[in-house]
Amino acid sequence: MAATDLERFSNEEKRNLSLGGHVGFDSLPDQLVSKSVTQGFSFNILCVGETGIGKSTLMNTLFNTTFETEEASHYESAVRLRPRTYDLQESNVHLKLTIVDAVGFGDQINKDESYRPIVEYIDTQFENYLQEELKIRRSLFNYHDTRIHVCLYFITPTGHSLKSLDLVTMKKLDSKVNIIPIIAKADTISKSELHKFKIKIMSELVSNGVQIYQFPTDDEAVAEINSVMNAHLPFAVVGSTEEVKVGNKLVRARQYPWGVVQVENESHCDFVKLREMLIRVNMEDLREQTHTRHYELYRRCKLEEMGFKDTDPDSQPFSLQETYETKRKEFLGELQKKEEEMRQMFVNKVKETEAELKEKERELHEKFEHLKRIHQEEKRKVEEKRRELEEEMNAFNRRKVAVETLQSQSLQATSQQPLKKDKDKKNFFSLPSACSITSGRYVN
Ligand code: GTP
Ligand code: MG
Repeated sequence: MAATDLERFSNEEKRNLSLGGHVGFDSLPDQLVSKSVTQGFSFNILCVGETGIGKSTLMNTLFNTTFETEEASHYESAVRLRPRTYDLQESNVHLKLTIVDAVGFGDQINKDESYRPIVEYIDTQFENYLQEELKIRRSLFNYHDTRIHVCLYFITPTGHSLKSLDLVTMKKLDSKVNIIPIIAKADTISKSELHKFKIKIMSELVSNGVQIYQFPTDDEAVAEINSVMNAHLPFAVVGSTEEVKVGNKLVRARQYPWGVVQVENESHCDFVKLREMLIRVNMEDLREQTHTRHYELYRRCKLEEMGFKDTDPDSQPFSLQETYETKRKEFLGELQKKEEEMRQMFVNKVKETEAELKEKERELHEKFEHLKRIHQEEKRKVEEKRRELEEEMNAFNRRKVAVETLQSQSLQATSQQPLKKDKDKKNFFSLPSACSITSGRYVN
């Protein structure tokens, strides 16, 4: 049955019945309350503002406690996010509160990238939640939700206008988190200046298209107070944990030589308004907006990026199964294409290497032939030399035999004619014309 048929059928079937007596389902809200109380709540606040603007003091003042704080130096090379989680209890309600500080914000010479770590942090929390949701075995019931529910943006009380860093950062954050702008250290600005400053800030936010969180006016119970409070934005706050005696009461205040600024005095600052709006009236709405607006936007973009969609190009419903199948086919197609490309690449590489090897072989062969030729030439020369030497040796031997023969003949002659000895001897040595023996070698 198609979804629209099913809807029509169920509408036709729906009938109003009056009950005969008390059944008990009017206790459903109580059941919900009891379940939520048992489960506890989580609330995550992101504080963005320059170093020393009074973020930690305000948090301590808001929750009337002393959170661990660590003063930031002005020498951070980049903005870094520092989350700290605390378990708080009021009556029997447990609150897991996470305060995230943007440490080093506004301290860098080049502030172009100051917003990036903040955006990345917010996105990471969304991503973690999305991953938990997409798990087969989900445990969202006891999942520690770290998504940022509100960003308190601390504006420096210059009395002039917003800095471009404030505008750029708020613009980058406004689609990801509920922004409540607050003017910090409001005791340092006069009443008339503050009034003008607030108007200026709001007009600058509007003209730059920055969407800040608006307290909801759709719930009758809080519509009136919320619409009045919307007109007071941005809240001008003063923070202090110091207790000062005013009359016969101890109040949280900042004491100056010329007077006392009471934190919880509404004619001195908007601290009470902020506390009411943030904690007492709209905490649940902030949590809800985070889930239904900001997280939903992140989830939609992320799933669309991954190729999932609700309808096909003809605006027909497209199921997750179909998307999965299409994506799978696309993926397998791409894989096959890549495989084919790699195979082709491999074949080309083998061919190239083969050609290179053949060329090398040819070169080696040529080299070998050349060496062989040189070797044969050398061998021929050595042979020639050897022949020449042999001929020389033969000639020498022949001469040597001739000399020996002559020597023996002359000896014989000497023995026969001793008187002619000296004369013959002289003749013998003068016989071979200009002939001598040097170092065993005969030279003509
Ligand atoms: P980092 O965490 O180091 O960036 O500072 P921070 O923004 O947390 O400021 P912190 O709360 O440490 O306050 C810095 C100084 O400002 C302290 O001396 C506070 O007493 C003072 N301070 C805090 N709130 C106010 C305020 O509302 N008015 C005035 N005049 N001073 C304040
Ligand atoms: Mg601090």
